[in-house]
Amino acid sequence: MSSSTPFFLIILPYFFFSSSWFFCFCSSAGFDLTPISFDEGYSPLFGEFNLVRSPDGNSVRLLLDVYSGSGFISSNMYAHGFFSAKIKLPADNTAGVVVAFYASNGDVFEKAHDELDIEFLGNVQGKPWRFQTNLYGNGSTSRGREERYRLWFDPSKEFHRYSILWTAKNIIFYVDEVPIREVIRSDEMGGDYPTKPMSLYATIWDASSWATGGGKIKVNYDYAPFTAEFRELVLQGCPMDPIQEYPDFTICNDKDAWLQSRTYAFLTPKRRAAMQKFRQHYMYYSSCYDVWRYPVKLTGCVIDPIEKQRFNESGRLKFERSHKKQARSAKARRERKPRTDA
Ligand SMILES: *[C@@H]1O[C@H](CO)[C@@H](O)[C@H](O)[C@H]1NC(C)=O
Ligand SMILES: *[C@@H]1O[C@H](CO)[C@@H](O)[C@H](O)[C@H]1NC(C)=O
Repeated sequence: MSSSTPFFLIILPYFFFSSSWFFCFCSSAGFDLTPISFDEGYSPLFGEFNLVRSPDGNSVRLLLDVYSGSGFISSNMYAHGFFSAKIKLPADNTAGVVVAFYASNGDVFEKAHDELDIEFLGNVQGKPWRFQTNLYGNGSTSRGREERYRLWFDPSKEFHRYSILWTAKNIIFYVDEVPIREVIRSDEMGGDYPTKPMSLYATIWDASSWATGGGKIKVNYDYAPFTAEFRELVLQGCPMDPIQEYPDFTICNDKDAWLQSRTYAFLTPKRRAAMQKFRQHYMYYSSCYDVWRYPVKLTGCVIDPIEKQRFNESGRLKFERSHKKQARSAKARRERKPRTDA
């Protein structure tokens, strides 16, 4: 017996890496958010017959069936903001399904749009959802800054909060209260950093051409309708009319200062450590390390020596699909724009 590994050494790492107390912020005060009802902040975008409000108006379900996906959009555009919702994703076989939660102004600035994305990528039965974050500024669609990750829980089992913070200084993506990615504005990023007012969008749609297995596995409508639920919706930011010749950003000074003073706007050492842990254990693709795709490093990338070694030159932890397919699907992704047709 004395030569065998103690029980706790076997069980402990498993418990440590698989459970949510790995990211426990048990004593933190939290984000102190004020949710609003659906009608207070949002309007249907497309597939309205597949958008179902709860009786109290505080939550909404987006359905995808063989006829259509569905989506909603914030009624205002915002110059900076904190966009957040608790989301529960569809269960079972969700291959080819994408649920997107993102800020964009692509409908207003077709050639010079800005965008901040969280996109959930469905999977075949028994395999977990994955998700990606991305950003574009001033129409920088030839420079996708994707990162892809797994989650430390099953997002179809219960609601979790997903958030995008966007200020004049930084962008932070959150899962619950764990920051998973920070982009700090720098001069070298120039116009690639989003600056123009954006709307918040939430959509569910058929992305059979790229979402799962590089497009090999399509949506199986035997499992329809696919339902994504949104609740405790939060929109904090400075509403602004984007279509002015000389937009006056000073009207947002007070609101911007308020936004930057919130606990979610900066990373305490504890939060930064949680972000590093998340990235070490759950990130499996980063455009920052993909030198095949970007022989010249993307601006705004902070190169972490440990990450760099792990991601080697492909930006991927393991080869899920060929580089060509990755490029093709990135193109398909840009051309998606479900908006009004779907
Ligand atoms: C945005 O892009 C346009 C055309 O591509 C360019 O003329 C303009 O200078 C860019 N703006 C910024 C802030 O980089
Ligand atoms: C990637 O891996 C190869 C083979 O193991 C190695 O020769 C190369 O130096 C690595 N590149 C980086 C950037 O670590």
